[in-house]
Amino acid sequence: MNMNWYMPTRLITGLGCVKDSAKEIVKLGKSCLIITGKHSAKACGALDDVETVLENAGIFREVYDCIGQNPRLTDCMEAAGQACRMGADFIIGIGGGSPLDAAKCIAVLAANPGMTQETLYSLQWAKRPLPVMAVGTTAGTGSEVTKVAVITTPDGRKTSFNHETMYPVLALGDPSYMQSLPADFTRSTAVDALAHCIESYFSRMANVFSRACAVQGIRLLAGQFGKTEKAGWENISLLDREVFYNASIYGGLAINATGTAFPHTMGYLLTEQYGISHGTACAVFLQEFYQYNKEVVPELTERFLGEIGCSEGRFLQIIQNATPSCDIAISEKQIAEAHGRWIGNGSIKKCWGEFAPERADGILRRLFGE
Ligand SMILES: [Fe+2]
Repeated sequence: MNMNWYMPTRLITGLGCVKDSAKEIVKLGKSCLIITGKHSAKACGALDDVETVLENAGIFREVYDCIGQNPRLTDCMEAAGQACRMGADFIIGIGGGSPLDAAKCIAVLAANPGMTQETLYSLQWAKRPLPVMAVGTTAGTGSEVTKVAVITTPDGRKTSFNHETMYPVLALGDPSYMQSLPADFTRSTAVDALAHCIESYFSRMANVFSRACAVQGIRLLAGQFGKTEKAGWENISLLDREVFYNASIYGGLAINATGTAFPHTMGYLLTEQYGISHGTACAVFLQEFYQYNKEVVPELTERFLGEIGCSEGRFLQIIQNATPSCDIAISEKQIAEAHGRWIGNGSIKKCWGEFAPERADGILRRLFGE
């Protein structure tokens, strides 16, 4: 199996890791723009910790806290303008996937003032992005260790781009920031991590390292899901939060090498048009994804079950139990309208076999047909 592995981010995790990493943070520059959502970075204590370190180090900072779920390109452009005006040397993203992806995008835009959407997505940038520091406050995205940003463009589509210069220079993950997350959010982000691991394992781009990460992520999550079902999603200990977070990093490392597959591509539709949270929107397609792979790559599927140490029945049960319900109805007209999205899609091309667009239509009909 061929190998291609590159992940240059310094990753530091554990309780108090932001305050303990002052020496690494001061290397990034003298001024920075901090990117967050409206509430969570403040509520979980991460913003306070970051600001304390910056204050003590004499690093000038401003905060842009208008990143919503599914970050918009228009907001990233606004924040990049702020970064330029203040002369930011680097960007700090604090949050889950949305602020972290936005921070990566803003770092590109701030280094290249006046850039259009077309130039951004063409990856033909005159200058290297500003350095990014990522502070993870959820256990799901894995964005801390990837070169990818998923941004919602003005046409309402979630559109990803990636470049080797987009890796965060420094990623910090303190599980205590996740203690206050609501139960449904914890669950949805956890199944996002599960989707990353499963989709990555079955990618044509997978290699021995990415599969090792995917398998380890699934093993950790399978254990946690069983435990959490009994205790309840609102009663997760700090130690268990750490395990969820580690699993999300394994998932991030895995998809960084391979990209995602059709559950993510199809999940974007549910998020854009029905407001289903990202993790849930992807996870509802995982059983279909497994059955598809069983059909087109049966030997790989057997090997997968052996590596994760699960029977097929147990594995499907884990997915089913972990995935929140997704109560929507999709009409034939909507299925027809979505059809073009599946044609020539880059993530779908990474699936084994020939995943025809009609197959995606059939999956939508089976799961959500009126
Ligand atoms: Fe995801």
